[in-house]
Amino acid sequence: MHTISFINMKGGVGKTTSVVEIATLLATEFSKKVLVIDLDPQTNATLSFISLKQWEKIKDTGTIADVLGMNRGASSRDEDFDIKKAIIKSPQGIKNLDLIPSHLELTFLDLDLVSVPARESVLKNKIDNAGLNYDYILIDCPPNLTLAPQNALIISDYIVVPVTPEVYPAIGLPLLVNRVQKWKKSFRDCNVEFLGVIFTKVDGRYSVHAQQMDALRKSKIIPCFSTIVKQNAPLGKAVAESKPATLVYPHCNGVEAYRSLANEIIQKIEDDGK
Ligand SMILES: Nc1ncnc2c1ncn2[C@@H]1O[C@H](COP(=O)(O)OP(=O)(O)OP(=O)(O)O)[C@@H](O)[C@H]1O
Ligand SMILES: [Mg+2]
Repeated sequence: MHTISFINMKGGVGKTTSVVEIATLLATEFSKKVLVIDLDPQTNATLSFISLKQWEKIKDTGTIADVLGMNRGASSRDEDFDIKKAIIKSPQGIKNLDLIPSHLELTFLDLDLVSVPARESVLKNKIDNAGLNYDYILIDCPPNLTLAPQNALIISDYIVVPVTPEVYPAIGLPLLVNRVQKWKKSFRDCNVEFLGVIFTKVDGRYSVHAQQMDALRKSKIIPCFSTIVKQNAPLGKAVAESKPATLVYPHCNGVEAYRSLANEIIQKIEDDGK
């Protein structure tokens, strides 16, 4: 089982899009058994796989908020909540892919779990106890490093960092690397490593994009995947149907890029042999 967190403290850089499309491709075209965990209260990944109507049916009984034992209305924490109860099997009929949906309440996770011991390991304990069996777990994280992403990091083998090559990454990436390293020192059983940067929303008309990609590749702060994902409108359109673009526009440029990235990811992980 390989667990990959998609992290960048910057918002809107394509974390969710990358998780949704790569997960769908791994499941449907590479025959991998995949679990997507949505750890972002914005629930964007969730709503790329299920409709708002479907989400409303399960929001009080089976989301990541229940898994993490948040205070649910008047009821108190349910430490025994079985993670399997929150798994939606094959949303949209996608074979080999399961989803743990998110909840807006996750915004308050840090407050709710403030007095819980080892609160960074709640998700890890749930997963360890459930004996889940997937080839890949892909985790969509919010644009920060608070408690939800910390729960993701502790169970992750790898971090993938989607980056829109504007001016910010030069400052943001060293900060992310530094924070993760610092954080790892305090959690010795965490072996997470950076797998690579995915350049997303690349626009050939902006010379700054080419310059920033070049600078980041040369800096070697984090290795960069060869495939880049250019600006491609269909990637954003499929969500209106609560479906990944891979299913709706399987041959658009964006999906072709993610197909190539799925290949690169599998190759890198297999070569790593971790
Ligand atoms: N390659 C692309 N071309 C065009 N639009 C894209 C591309 N990738 C992502 N988008 C769009 O950009 C917006 C932000 O993408 P996304 O939600 O994946 O970013 P994010 O990093 O998850 O954001 P957040 O930090 O808010 O969670 C979305 O509307 C998405 O559809
Ligand atoms: Mg997102």
